[in-house]
Amino acid sequence: MALNYISAAEAASLIKHGYNIGLSGFTPAGTAKAVTAELAKIAEAEHAKGNPFQIGIFTGASTGDSCDGILSRAKAIRYRAPYTTNADFRKAVNNGEIAYNDIHLSQMAQEVRYGFMGKVNVAIIEACEVTPDGKIYLTAAGGIAPTVCRLADQIIVELNAAHSKSAMGLHDVYEPLDPPYRREIPIYKPSDRIGLPYIQVDPKKIVGVVETNWPDEARSFAAADPLTDKIGQNVADMKRGIIPPTFLPLQSGVGNIANAVLGALGRDKTIPAFEMYTEVIQNSVIGLIREGRVKFGSACSLTVTNDCLEGIYQDMDFFRDKLVLRPSEISNSPEVVRRLGIISINTAIEADIYGNVNSTHIGGTKMMNGIGGSGDFTRNAYISIFTCPSVAKEGKISAIVPMVSHMDHTEHDVNIIITEQGVADLRGKSPKERAQAIIENCVHPDYKNILWDYLKLTDGKSQTPHALRAALAMHAELAKSGDMKNVDWAQYK
Ligand code: COA
Repeated sequence: MALNYISAAEAASLIKHGYNIGLSGFTPAGTAKAVTAELAKIAEAEHAKGNPFQIGIFTGASTGDSCDGILSRAKAIRYRAPYTTNADFRKAVNNGEIAYNDIHLSQMAQEVRYGFMGKVNVAIIEACEVTPDGKIYLTAAGGIAPTVCRLADQIIVELNAAHSKSAMGLHDVYEPLDPPYRREIPIYKPSDRIGLPYIQVDPKKIVGVVETNWPDEARSFAAADPLTDKIGQNVADMKRGIIPPTFLPLQSGVGNIANAVLGALGRDKTIPAFEMYTEVIQNSVIGLIREGRVKFGSACSLTVTNDCLEGIYQDMDFFRDKLVLRPSEISNSPEVVRRLGIISINTAIEADIYGNVNSTHIGGTKMMNGIGGSGDFTRNAYISIFTCPSVAKEGKISAIVPMVSHMDHTEHDVNIIITEQGVADLRGKSPKERAQAIIENCVHPDYKNILWDYLKLTDGKSQTPHALRAALAMHAELAKSGDMKNVDWAQYK
């Protein structure tokens, strides 16, 4: 059956008000771009005529501006899951304009399969190759592409020449059965391959192929600075003595801090060459693979800058047996994470003195990005680590507070907290011992006494001592005066 080549505008016209679209991609890597950009124009035209036009978006994780940004500005998104990072999307969510369902990334594909979010009408899949018999070769990410391809009534393929055909073979496409028929996911080491290098679809469902040449909308990384270097060095120092000498596979979160932490681990030659079983591979890991410091990288996406991605495509003979990209429910599978004994390293917005972590909400109410895969890895890790700077906003905010204003990772899941000040190893400790370790080692000097004084307001004896009226007083003070340091405990005595 011959493929039907159409324009992005023609493809977008197939998407109607009220549809749910399922997208390839995970982070801006591998996300469809051209059709969503055209869809925004349709939405704006319909809105100008006084007609409603909004859709639901199901995807692997965040997307680039051509999806979440353009469609948020066009007020074309009714519902969206899971993780996003786009600033305009964030604004719209916090204005109450979009229903945002921030679920664990490993759960996204299965919740779509279970029907929890409604029907997938159209899948838009970025590919580096598509064949007339329905083989779709993905680009820089796995995401939920296999699932939305299977469930959607119609599939649009964005055949993107900005991704080299040398990406063919990078993917390991595998979709588990649903309960009660699900079996174990047979991955016993990060490099195991268990599926196919392409998604096989019914070719009759491919309603159009849109040819594009649109590079991934990757963000560049800030150069490491003394603060991120210090956090990275604290992670590297902490490794000695507590991890099996053979080391264990690492997961590392997104962003500048995560990138810097991996750079520091790679530089520390007391740490043996290691493997990654993670959701995103960032630039630093590619450098470490080239240097032989990282032996293998299993991930859902290559969330790298475009020049770095180009370098990988050019050197595919070198990288082919050192990288694999998987769907997000496999890269983030709690079952596999627990089996392999992953060391997880993620970033907190704030943590409390007992080890509960907030990764998602500013001031307890405003969404930042979302939980991403941090929960998939943290709860199931061999050792779960959270890093963050000890203060934010020129020191007016302490990242360590008496009680987190929103909780994503509980004290039961968090093993180690690391700031530029030092390391609090919480393993094997009671809540009261944890509070001592966190305040002593992780808190910025400006806030140490404030937190010791908070503890004096409590009975000091309960399993988890709190003065409930004062527990969020540092947040309330920030909202009132703009500086947590102004908190006055006297009124709570
Ligand atoms: N209160 C208010 N604002 C805070 C804050 C706090 N306690 N802590 C940090 N911030 C602000 C920073 O000032 C910064 O603001 P800016 O953008 O205006 O400069 C912003 O939050 C981001 O903080 P930054 O220190 O630059 O960290 P980051 O870019 O590494 O992002 C997270 C940190 C937590 C937002 C990010 O890692 C995230 O979304 N994590 C959740 C998902 C996740 O873990 N994914 C990986 C799983 S694989």
